[in-house]
Amino acid sequence: MRKMVAVAAAAALALSVTACGQAAAPSASGSASGGAVEKGTIGIAMPTKTSERWIKDGEYLKKTLEEAGYTVNLQYANDEIPTQVTQVNDMVTKGNQLLVVAAIDGVALKGALSEAKDAKIPVIAYDRLLRETDAVSYYTTFDNFKVGVQQGTSLLDGLTASGAKSPWNVELFAGSADDNNAKFFFDGAMSVLQPKIDDGTLKIVSSETEFNKVTTLRWDAGVAKKRMETLLTKSYSDKDLAGVLAPYDGISRGIIAALKASGYGQGGKAMPIVTGQDAELESVKMILSGEQYSTIFKDTRELAKTTAAMVEEVLSGKTVTVNDEKTYDNGVMVVPTMLLQPVSLDKSNVKQTLLDAGYYTADQLG
Ligand code: BGC
Repeated sequence: MRKMVAVAAAAALALSVTACGQAAAPSASGSASGGAVEKGTIGIAMPTKTSERWIKDGEYLKKTLEEAGYTVNLQYANDEIPTQVTQVNDMVTKGNQLLVVAAIDGVALKGALSEAKDAKIPVIAYDRLLRETDAVSYYTTFDNFKVGVQQGTSLLDGLTASGAKSPWNVELFAGSADDNNAKFFFDGAMSVLQPKIDDGTLKIVSSETEFNKVTTLRWDAGVAKKRMETLLTKSYSDKDLAGVLAPYDGISRGIIAALKASGYGQGGKAMPIVTGQDAELESVKMILSGEQYSTIFKDTRELAKTTAAMVEEVLSGKTVTVNDEKTYDNGVMVVPTMLLQPVSLDKSNVKQTLLDAGYYTADQLG
């Protein structure tokens, strides 16, 4: 693990911003040599409460930062871009000490973030990269390419385990095009699946294989369900679908609803292998009951912990811990990143792993 000097810290500490938004001289305690940090308000911008993970992310982050002595200004934007822009602008106006931002659209916050930079407020991109801006200091996330590799691998594992003979008919879904992660997940998955498409093991009957043909705006389950229905009508009236690459549990459930409505999973018609991500409770139950094949577990408590430690490092002017300084080019700069490791779960390990981690209780999993 490499350490690097906090580039932003010097800027952040050259001036500290008071609650009324006025620049003030740094206190002796906030020296770049790493003294005690002045504990102000940390602004946290989260995308939405419709997905379980962001609720958990927000809760853990708030709790961890409050335990460290900060005040927390946690905002959710209901997946509406203008709402999130207003929230971030407001954090800057109020002189929040540092911003942690999980963007809805990676580019749309550009203007608000440049205001933050002008006010010397450091910004940490949380889980999703902030693009087209030099106002972002650091990034904390999971290894997003690896998530995709795990999704692609588990799709192939599931198809193999299903006992159905190849070639297998498969369809591909990606996340929201304006979320930088979506392309990483898709590219990771395709690094595993493309060779199998090329050698004829997998058939994409719809021929929709390009990223921009398979995205799902706002990661919305309803959007995914509609696309699955259309695909079934157009391409599968005389064929069976064997598997679906799905990038997120909400999308997986939308896809599974469409599959069930068209007779899959009943009367001898096998439920296709469907992947996922986030280990959402509803999907974990569907994995246990055999409706969804897999998910990817990203322990949001670990991400919150890592981010809170980074907040402390940035504000105290200590060296900031990162382990990747090449992967996340945001179009303007390569953002120094702390990457955590995702874990692939299917029926064989889902219950034990999540119980051992204390992520869910035995009661919740039934
Ligand atoms: C996150 C995923 C999540 C998706 C939809 C992505 O940016 O990395 O964990 O499934 O957004 O909320």
